[in-house]
Amino acid sequence: MRVVHISDLHFWHITLNPRQLLGKRLLGMSNLFLNRAWNFRMESMPALVDRIQGISPDHLLITGDLTSTALEEEFRAARRALIPLNPSAPFLSVVPGNHDRYTRESARSRLFEKYFGEFAPAPVYPWLKRLGEDVGILALDPTHPNPISARGTMTTEQIHKATELLHAAKPRPERLIVACHYPIALPAGIVEGRGHGLRGARELQAFLARESPALYCHGHIHASWAFSPQSLPRTLCLDPGAALKIRNHSGIRATMLEIILAGKGVEIRRHALRERVWNEDLMLKNKDFFDRGAPLNAN
Ligand SMILES: [Fe+2]
Ligand SMILES: [Fe+2]
Repeated sequence: MRVVHISDLHFWHITLNPRQLLGKRLLGMSNLFLNRAWNFRMESMPALVDRIQGISPDHLLITGDLTSTALEEEFRAARRALIPLNPSAPFLSVVPGNHDRYTRESARSRLFEKYFGEFAPAPVYPWLKRLGEDVGILALDPTHPNPISARGTMTTEQIHKATELLHAAKPRPERLIVACHYPIALPAGIVEGRGHGLRGARELQAFLARESPALYCHGHIHASWAFSPQSLPRTLCLDPGAALKIRNHSGIRATMLEIILAGKGVEIRRHALRERVWNEDLMLKNKDFFDRGAPLNAN
């Protein structure tokens, strides 16, 4: 089975409508003018969609921040950009990021659900979607509007429900993918920005320690990696990086991860667009990852 994982597309739309510029969106719009509009290039989206079609995955997973300030125009543009992929619930899974619930109004009116709810098997989180006999995506949502920060909150109640969901699943998916916007650990050398973290991260880590082996697919940090934290050796943390972000130093214009699940093994490939050429590199290969009896870190 082949899964493509993308994240943090950050479609943006600049509005000067004073009714839409109340509260936090004013901050977001200033940030758009100063940074985001120059760094997040929506014109690279057709090339990204083209590459996904070329890979021809069984499933596409998007781990949030499809928008920048949760404006309806941004949701509509993100949804429209996916049309060439013929998205359907068996093919596409989407979880929200903090930017998709940027303002109280956008969260209250459930704009994310209006545009992407059709791909979820349930109207609330957590939910579990089977991709095949023994592969399942468990989706979590710790996002909520914040007056000034980008923090999320993973509640004890959501962890409890996720545990119940997994244990009620018959058979329980042997190859588990957990999808959640926020990272639960960062690789060495990466420092979290202030006010960007996840409250309840410890409880989520404890949940993963109990339920792993699992792939933990997230976004939020805008950098790509594949690694298992020392404290969670059977959890593989995957961040594809911000899909459409321009990296001036490397010339990269778009990125995504390809996850190949074969038997008990997993292989992670990163696809990166430099100018008009896609490059692919093998980030990780572990032939025993989903084998609970295998020694740790067997490659
Ligand atoms: Fe983001
Ligand atoms: Fe985010």
